[in-house]
Amino acid sequence: MSNPHPALGYSFLTPAYEWALWLGVPERKIRSYLIEHIDAHQPLLDFGCGTGNFLQQLQQINPQQSIRGLDTDPYMVRVSRRKSVPVDYYASGPLPYAAGRFGTVTSTWVFEHFSVEESLFYFREIRRILQPGGTFWLGDWGPSQGPMQRVLGRLVHWIDPTQNGLGPAGHWPELLAQAGFSTVLIPYRIPTRLGTFYYWKCHF
Ligand SMILES: C[S@@+](CC[C@H](N)C(=O)[O-])C[C@H]1O[C@@H](n2cnc3c(N)ncnc32)[C@H](O)[C@@H]1O
Repeated sequence: MSNPHPALGYSFLTPAYEWALWLGVPERKIRSYLIEHIDAHQPLLDFGCGTGNFLQQLQQINPQQSIRGLDTDPYMVRVSRRKSVPVDYYASGPLPYAAGRFGTVTSTWVFEHFSVEESLFYFREIRRILQPGGTFWLGDWGPSQGPMQRVLGRLVHWIDPTQNGLGPAGHWPELLAQAGFSTVLIPYRIPTRLGTFYYWKCHF
């Protein structure tokens, strides 16, 4: 079972993923913003949950909320489950959930590795499994704010050439719109050591 899109671009680097987060981004701050702004009463899916850090933090703050993670990497699924985070393993194809199953879907640093076609496929799948009126929070790199951030963003792309560059080039809003999300807002933007991180809040 190999994962076509490992967290750091190459499978042998996956065990270092949490170190990369620790070195590169203010992880707790980024995740806390989302936890403060999601609807705590809605069932939530974290698409591409990785090592489960977001869901673990969410579970500690909102223990009553119904949550699930989904990931294509058996290593990530094992690490998440060790943290008692409920995670589904899935290999490919349509997402293994019924239409309208979740009120909130979150996804952070997952779409950075997808092609345009894959991005559109997963945006549409996420729209399908969301209830009408539900919210999709996309967290990813976006257009750099200032020259230093631009240099850092380029450096990351140079270190990990498997990144698609769609976020920094500003393409997420148009692709989300193509997938049927009618409202795409930028409620959060923060400079990090690896580039400028954004959350896009999407409705349909
Ligand atoms: C860079 S990591 C981000 C992990 C986590 N979201 C976080 O914020 O730390 C990207 C994750 O997406 C997963 N992934 C890649 N393709 C996927 C897919 N088609 N469906 C679900 N997860 C996927 C990878 O296995 C990896 O765990």
